[in-house]
Amino acid sequence: MHGKKPATFRSALNPRTPILVSCRSKDGKNNALAVVYACNCSYDPPMIMVGIVPSRHSYSIIKETGVFVANLVTESMRDMFMYLGSHSGRDEDKLAVLGLNLAEGIKVDAPILLDSPVSIECTVTGSVVTGSHEMFIGKVEYVHADASLVDADGKVDYSKIDFLKV
Ligand SMILES: Cc1cc2nc3c(=O)[nH]c(=O)nc-3n(C[C@H](O)[C@H](O)[C@H](O)COP(=O)(O)O)c2cc1C
Repeated sequence: MHGKKPATFRSALNPRTPILVSCRSKDGKNNALAVVYACNCSYDPPMIMVGIVPSRHSYSIIKETGVFVANLVTESMRDMFMYLGSHSGRDEDKLAVLGLNLAEGIKVDAPILLDSPVSIECTVTGSVVTGSHEMFIGKVEYVHADASLVDADGKVDYSKIDFLKV
């Protein structure tokens, strides 16, 4: 009568938040993976959460180093996102295969993906195993944004970003 019917339970929140999480192993190897389990989880202090499945190569790296970078993703980065989300750093240097332009983190030892309009450096303050994913809670240490997006107060105009939809 009310126009509703039961729907599937999995990943029920939409739209999702596609990001590329970049990291660097203790022996200096860069990696990144596609993640859609990602959200803000504290305004003050600024914190975000990223959900990573333990079988991912990046999972062991982030567990060991305690740092990562969350890179926001645009439609123009779709192929890159899908590649990084379907190949493992265990088998190849994905960032080199794609010829990605990188910069060094300012606060953390991990690469910034320069194609991304906004890259967020984080240190892991804790994690929660929720089920299939472990949610890494990241304290935001530094935010890099394209100069064209940032106003005089440092605020990012997110309305200018053509976010990837998956
Ligand atoms: C659209 C999409 C969303 C994904 N979201 C997640 C996610 O939220 N968490 C996760 O652990 N893996 C996610 N993945 C899968 C990983 O990105 C993928 O397994 C990747 O190859 C792991 O790389 P790695 O082994 O180098 O860490 C997603 C893949 C795609 C294509």
